[in-house]
Amino acid sequence: MVWFTFKVQIILLLACPMIIPSTNAEFDSMEFWRKRNNLIDEEKSLAFGGKTPFYSESEIRANDILMKHKSSEINEAFFNSSEFAPSRNFMSVRKSIEDSNVFKIIRKMPKGAVLNVHASALVSAKWVYENVTFRDNVYICIRPEKLLLRIFDKPSNDCNWQLLSDLRNANETARTQINSRILRQLTLGTEGQAESYSSEDDLWAKFKKVFDLRVPLLRYKPLFEDYLYQGLKELYDDNVFFLEVRTPLLEMYDLDGKTYDEKESTEVYINVTNRFMRDHPDFMGVKIIYSIYRKMISSNLTETIKKIIQLQQIYPNVIAGIDLIGQEDLGYPLRNWISVLEPFINKTDFYFHAGETNWYGLESDENLFDAVLLNSKRIGHGYAIVKHPKIMELIKQKRMAVEVCPIANQVLALITDLRNHPASILFAQNFSIVISSNDPGVWGATALSYDFYEAFMGLMSNHSDIRALKQLAINSIHFSSMNQGQKARAVEIWVQKWKDFVDMV
Ligand SMILES: *[C@@H]1O[C@H](CO)[C@@H](O)[C@H](O)[C@H]1NC(C)=O
Ligand SMILES: *[C@@H]1O[C@H](CO)[C@@H](O)[C@H](O)[C@H]1NC(C)=O
Ligand SMILES: *[C@@H]1O[C@H](CO)[C@@H](O)[C@H](O)[C@H]1NC(C)=O
Ligand SMILES: *[C@@H]1O[C@H](CO)[C@@H](O)[C@H](O)[C@H]1NC(C)=O
Ligand SMILES: *[C@@H]1O[C@H](CO)[C@@H](O)[C@H](O)[C@H]1NC(C)=O
Ligand SMILES: *[C@@H]1O[C@H](CO)[C@@H](O)[C@H](O)[C@H]1NC(C)=O
Ligand SMILES: *[C@@H]1O[C@H](CO)[C@@H](O)[C@H](O)[C@H]1NC(C)=O
Ligand SMILES: *[C@@H]1O[C@H](CO)[C@@H](O)[C@H](O)[C@H]1NC(C)=O
Repeated sequence: MVWFTFKVQIILLLACPMIIPSTNAEFDSMEFWRKRNNLIDEEKSLAFGGKTPFYSESEIRANDILMKHKSSEINEAFFNSSEFAPSRNFMSVRKSIEDSNVFKIIRKMPKGAVLNVHASALVSAKWVYENVTFRDNVYICIRPEKLLLRIFDKPSNDCNWQLLSDLRNANETARTQINSRILRQLTLGTEGQAESYSSEDDLWAKFKKVFDLRVPLLRYKPLFEDYLYQGLKELYDDNVFFLEVRTPLLEMYDLDGKTYDEKESTEVYINVTNRFMRDHPDFMGVKIIYSIYRKMISSNLTETIKKIIQLQQIYPNVIAGIDLIGQEDLGYPLRNWISVLEPFINKTDFYFHAGETNWYGLESDENLFDAVLLNSKRIGHGYAIVKHPKIMELIKQKRMAVEVCPIANQVLALITDLRNHPASILFAQNFSIVISSNDPGVWGATALSYDFYEAFMGLMSNHSDIRALKQLAINSIHFSSMNQGQKARAVEIWVQKWKDFVDMV
């Protein structure tokens, strides 16, 4: 009844807005609804993607379909109180995300570039397990707290190395046990289940063990070449066409006894990327953000940065810049290195991780101040940004992009329910955001779509539509380190892919 009167009033209002007397009590309630709608519309148009235009009729139709699915999946959780995937640990809900129609559309969507991924966690755990651990010459050393894997011609004597294949062939018990231990150390959870940890530091300790297993394997050059190719393939299959990867350039080796220094490791990246681009001409390439572990700055950082800049001068299209990585709460804060870093402003580009923490007013969230003052190109994570109004003002003004990594923040225990993720506030206020996957291989994800899904469903408003997803893709190109020519070509390729995508939907 109320609804009916309301509708009649709308019709009246539309027909003759001027003659409704302002003393009419019912008019006031109309007025209320008008104001309410205006406010909501205003917010919608202020939010991320709110002013991004639709490109075509067919995009509008694709949006209707996408939003029908989004609304039904959200309503399902809201009215029927079923579990809402973004509110639960990704490792427990990955399978149900894969069943979502929204996810299926996002998988097919051309997402542009991924700008925050660590090389050693780029490739899915499944591939590492199935491909890497079953190679010849893989040795294992079993320690009580962790396993080590290495590829040798002849094992070194720094550990009790044995051939993994021998152990697997010893007997059924040995095989099952070792396989399950390897699988457990390759990710932060077992298949379909998140492990529980007593503290955040505990979790980071496990996180480190995952890398202790992966990283030494990747120094074996022939393996790394397959690994990187596979990583690019996983991105490409997920409709991502450019990668900015964070990595140190570790010395590589092969079984002929040859070692490969940083320059040659860079060449390995280049050669694999070129091979991949020959096989996939619409892939745009790879750039490296040279990453230094903040906890392990033992050598002279000035020297290290000079060396990186030299490398950047040799390969200006490959080395994009520098980051300090690793857990901020326990690593050295940026402020310890100001006198070293400041002289390099504008001599290279910084891409600092900053504010990946739950703390407020401590050295780890205050890394944000240093990152902004050191003219960082983008901010990695920036989880603590919304607690710092001056930082919010500055990054808005400087148009600094924030690399939001929803699943990483959840799995690494900053937050459980992604509806509470602070980047919701950044989306609401149209900050320059890109969505990244950070370490997909470590939590049973691949590429980028899972993070896009979590952002679209959990972080953005129920109202945010295909235009917000489109804006994320556009941002990923705009805020990348591609040069102007590459960006122009990337946009051209992406626009065509986008057109095909909306037609397909
Ligand atoms: C969001 O910010 C971008 C870049 O500053 C701007 O082009 C766009 O119009 C803004 N969108 C809204 C909804 O204000
Ligand atoms: C979500 O938004 C849709 C419109 O896009 C609306 O129909 C639906 O009622 C909203 N869901 C809830 C629970 O409010
Ligand atoms: C809730 O679940 C029931 C039974 O599965 C279904 O009929 C109904 O449409 C659902 N409601 C919403 C809002 O999704
Ligand atoms: C591992 O991957 C490489 C490259 O795709 C392939 O040639 C090789 O056969 C694979 N090996 C195993 C054991 O799966
Ligand atoms: C299985 O092999 C392991 C490793 O070689 C050995 O320690 C264990 O005793 C064997 N178990 C049986 C039942 O043979
Ligand atoms: C990269 O490819 C070039 C050309 O094929 C080759 O000469 C060079 O040795 C390769 N570099 C490495 C480190 O594999
Ligand atoms: C690091 O190397 C630079 C020269 O590149 C030198 O000036 C500086 O004193 C060194 N710092 C330390 C702490 O050794
Ligand atoms: C770096 O470049 C920016 C923009 O070009 C400029 O505003 C700033 O003053 C420069 N900073 C230093 C320390 O050279």
